[in-house]
This record gives sequence, C-alpha cells and structure tokens, in this order.
Amino acid sequence: MDPYLETPAIAPAPDSGHVHAWRLHLSPPDATLPALHDLLSPEERVKAARFRFDHDRHRYIVAHAALRLVLAGYLHCKPADVLLQPGALGKPLLAGPGRVGSLSFNLSHSGDWGLLGVGQQEHIGVDIEQYRDIPDLQEVAATVLSEAELSVLHTRPAQERAACFLRLWTRKEAVVKATGAGIGTALDAIEIDPADPPLADVFTVTAGLPDLPPLFGRSFAWDADYFGAIVCENAPPQLAWYEYPAR
Ligand SMILES: CC(C)(COP(=O)(O)OP(=O)(O)OC[C@H]1O[C@@H](n2cnc3c(N)ncnc32)[C@H](O)[C@@H]1OP(=O)(O)O)[C@@H](O)C(=O)NCCC(=O)NCCS
Repeated sequence: MDPYLETPAIAPAPDSGHVHAWRLHLSPPDATLPALHDLLSPEERVKAARFRFDHDRHRYIVAHAALRLVLAGYLHCKPADVLLQPGALGKPLLAGPGRVGSLSFNLSHSGDWGLLGVGQQEHIGVDIEQYRDIPDLQEVAATVLSEAELSVLHTRPAQERAACFLRLWTRKEAVVKATGAGIGTALDAIEIDPADPPLADVFTVTAGLPDLPPLFGRSFAWDADYFGAIVCENAPPQLAWYEYPAR
C-alpha cells in the first residue's frame, strides 16, 4: 500500500507530560493526491479549491490528509470520521464522540514539511518555518519581538540574523497558537525566557499572557533549514518524534 495513505501505527496515546511530534512530509507522488483529497471533509475540499496555486493546494491537501490519518490512528476511526471544529478563537479542535480523553493537537506547515503536535494538554501550539531571507527583518522584528529578544537579535552578525529571527519567531507563534488567539495577540508584550534561543532548547513564557496557565516550550531545528517550536502548559513538553509517511 502507498505509505502516504496508511494510518500510521501509533504507540499508546501521549501521557500528560509528553507531546507526540509528527514530522509530516508534504511532497507525495502526484498520483497519490486524488486519494489524499478523498480523505478530506467537505469543508476542507472547499478550502483546498480556493488556493490560487497548485503548489499551495497540494500542500494543504497532504497536510490535512496526514492530520486525519494520524488522528484516526489515535481515535481508532476512519480518517474521514475525525471530527474537527473551530474553538472560540478559531483554533481547530477535536470534537465528537470518537475522541479519546482530552486529546488535543495543533498543525503547522512550511515548504515541504508539516509539524503536528498531539498531546493530552489543553493548550498545545506548534510552529515550523522554512529558512528564508527576510528583507524587512528589522521592521518586522521591532513589531513582534520583546526588548530582550531584540537585543539578542542585534548581537548577531548580519548573516545570522534571519535564522535567529526565525528561531525567536517560531517560539512566539507556537505560544499564540497554543492560546488559540493567533497573531492578533500583542506579540512584543510576550516575554520568553531565556531570550536567546540557541542557548537552550527549553523555554518559559514569563509575561504577556494574563489569565492563562504558565506555558513552556521546546525549540529545535531540522537540517539547518527549518526552525520549529512546540508549546504546552504545566511543564516543558517531553517530545516523542514520529514520521508521516512511515519510513
Ligand atoms: C493561526 C495562525 C497563527 C497561522 O499562522 P501561519 O504561519 O499562517 O500558519 P501555520 O502553518 O503555522 O499554522 C496553520 C494551521 O494552524 C491551525 N490554526 C488555525 N487557526 C488557529 C488558531 N487560532 N490557533 C491555533 N492554530 C490555528 C490550522 O490547523 C492551520 O492549518 P490550515 O491553515 O492548514 O488549516 C494565523 O493565521 C492566525 O493568527 N490566525 C488567527 C487570528 C487571525 O486570523 N488574525 C487575523 C488578524 S491579526
């Protein structure tokens, strides 16, 4: 069977300290795309049809088929029967009778890869970004980074600043995806300790999110080309890594 169409074999669902981190490969053979498309919900098919470029549409189809195949493995149901609905702030959440305990998830995609975090925590947020030059880096950084993060960025040589920014940015975006509020949040008010991401892969949100439980995260890089972060409440997540499709 085509590995892109298989429900991955999954160890027991994550316990409260763990997040299952799925590295999703989003470039299947073209011939597999129609079968992946068949796994999507009617709403996802409408959204897929709206993309202007084939490339973006194909990535969306594979990411959502992968999301359904993986979640179906945890829920012991068919991919098409995984019921997703937006929460109060628009964050997609698992719903319906098939769901197991408090299983939650969050998805991100960039370039050829996706990242899916699955755990028992209420607030899970993930972000992945492919390395790229950022022409208006100073301007963007000034609007989204805290003072402490900005001073870290400014200590870096010019050729390292885009990578440093993406490390800082993925941590922050994973935080606001955990809360569900997204990039409408006052990002520069969110303080993350330590401010310098290469110094530690574990970080803590220390300010900027009143009325929420403390959030913690872990950041990482894939092959120097992709930067990512995973955030949840209570404690820094212990990550167990999985691959889609299975190798
Ligand atoms: C959610 C958001 C951070 C996504 O950022 P992005 O870099 O474009 O995309 P990512 O690949 O990291 O994540 C996209 C996935 O996040 C998930 N997502 C969507 N809304 C979300 C939310 N409110 N919280 C957490 N996750 C969300 C979806 O699974 C989405 O995948 P899909 O587009 O294939 O359905 C951004 O779109 C956002 O802030 N949206 C909510 C608020 C908003 O729309 N504000 C607009 C005015 S500021």
